[in-house]
Amino acid sequence: MKTGTASLSARRRVLLGLGALATAAAGGWLWTGRHRRPAALAGTSAAPNAQAPASARRAERFTQPLRIPAAAGLMADVVLRGELALTAGSADFAIFPGAATALWHYAGLHDGKAVANPLLRLQHGQKLQVNLHNALDEATTAHWHGLSVDEANDGSGLHPVQPGAQRRYAFNVANRAGLYWYHAHPHGNTGKQIQRGLAGLLLVEDAQENALRARLGLNWGERDLPLLIADKQIDSNNSIVYKDGADDWIGNRILVNWTADAYLDAVPGLYRLRILNGCNARLWRLAFVHRGGLLPFQLIGTDGGLLERPWRLQDIFLGPAQRIDVIVDFSTVAVGDRVLLSSLDYMAMENEDDAGPLQPHLMADHPGAVPMGAAQDLMEFRLVADRSQRRSFGAAAIPARFQPLPPVAAEDCALRQFKLALDAEGRWLINQWNMYFNGHEPVFRVRRGSREIWEIHNALASMPHPIHVHGFQFRLLSRRISPPDIRARAVTDTGLSPHDLGLLDTVVIWPGEIVRIAIDFSQPFEGVQRYMLHCHNLEHEDRGMMITFAVDDDAKQLCEA
Ligand code: C2O
Ligand code: CU
Ligand code: CU
Repeated sequence: MKTGTASLSARRRVLLGLGALATAAAGGWLWTGRHRRPAALAGTSAAPNAQAPASARRAERFTQPLRIPAAAGLMADVVLRGELALTAGSADFAIFPGAATALWHYAGLHDGKAVANPLLRLQHGQKLQVNLHNALDEATTAHWHGLSVDEANDGSGLHPVQPGAQRRYAFNVANRAGLYWYHAHPHGNTGKQIQRGLAGLLLVEDAQENALRARLGLNWGERDLPLLIADKQIDSNNSIVYKDGADDWIGNRILVNWTADAYLDAVPGLYRLRILNGCNARLWRLAFVHRGGLLPFQLIGTDGGLLERPWRLQDIFLGPAQRIDVIVDFSTVAVGDRVLLSSLDYMAMENEDDAGPLQPHLMADHPGAVPMGAAQDLMEFRLVADRSQRRSFGAAAIPARFQPLPPVAAEDCALRQFKLALDAEGRWLINQWNMYFNGHEPVFRVRRGSREIWEIHNALASMPHPIHVHGFQFRLLSRRISPPDIRARAVTDTGLSPHDLGLLDTVVIWPGEIVRIAIDFSQPFEGVQRYMLHCHNLEHEDRGMMITFAVDDDAKQLCEA
């Protein structure tokens, strides 16, 4: 049992009543909705009135070509056929100039080539078969994040793969086309193992997906690209640093597709980007910055695939583990210009103690890291002339509508309530539950095939929690009591943003918010299947902000009197 409460209590001082809140407000960390840019960071991102072209100011900032999934190596593009053997282990990779970086990763051989953390591509309905061998000296797993699987194939901490042992994952991919991912998920060590590198992407394709690609004229791996964005804490020897028992682990370097300081030579035209926030704890407010202004983009998909229609946006919040599918149009950008993919500053709302997000003691473990919520640039697109003659068809090719999503059908009586809060010891709880108290014993049972509404209330003295449900995608019904900047993004009278209208497996719940989600617990499996409900801030998860629930034919239906 490891709760780490000693270090927690210093970090997580609970606000004592309204007096402390008022003090906090006076201290200036109330949500303002303004795009504040701390003076010290002014040079790191384009301020709204910046006049100098981006290229002049940051010529040497993004120096390494973005890794594109290729036949071999890190993030190799692997079209899965038959079984793939993957070994969880550690090896050195050249990521930064100078010393190599030891990366924990899933290694395999595909078509005779060595691959590491491969991007797995599968067709909807196809069988995924991966045989995981653990060559680390601690237990690990491969969890198939977002996929509809049974407990045995979920790769959660319920079924750890011990050092030297193997486990075969085999299941039919029942999810819609979209970007999913796989990562290590051993109880108590998920934060460390993902920070050290154990994560890869998984792209599900289907007929609708292939038709859209053809219609847009964007070739996968050229102008239809995945972006796995993660921050890492890197020391002076180019090693990834992680502290056991850490809290909210943020890093001082950004890797996009395992590339540091990444740039992509881009032609003036459409790009489709499938973006994963692969950070342990960092929440992004993503935007494309060009000459100090924001280049709008179309949001077309979320965790569980395409939306019902595209939405034109200027920026978007993306919490840990969430994915978005966006189309950005560089055709208005002059050749020679640069466009930054940035995270704009936002109010981090780390309201759980009176320290505020920028306090030095919170940053002591993260030298050089940009504080949570402060602006930072993630990568750069350099506009070059299009010599390929492979043109996309332009923004007009983006369909006005995609296929309808599964309906939100849930009965009001089937309401389950959850409250996210800290206890007096500084432990994050889901209701009164915490993995370290409740272990693998399901804290509630859901009747298979039922449709439930889960109402998740985040305490006001809290912080944003990216809440994730294993095994099922869900839809949002409403957001209430949202912070102003979240409310400002609502496009429905139920408080939902365009992002919220998609199929999701992870939802960010801001302090004070009450969010209702609808989950259809239909599945083709039998017997008792146990899943996890947890915060995908990995340090919260590892500190027990995670519970086990069961899906079962015999469970009581909430609507039965
Ligand atoms: Cu991506 Cu339980 O996690
Ligand atoms: Cu998951
Ligand atoms: Cu959390």
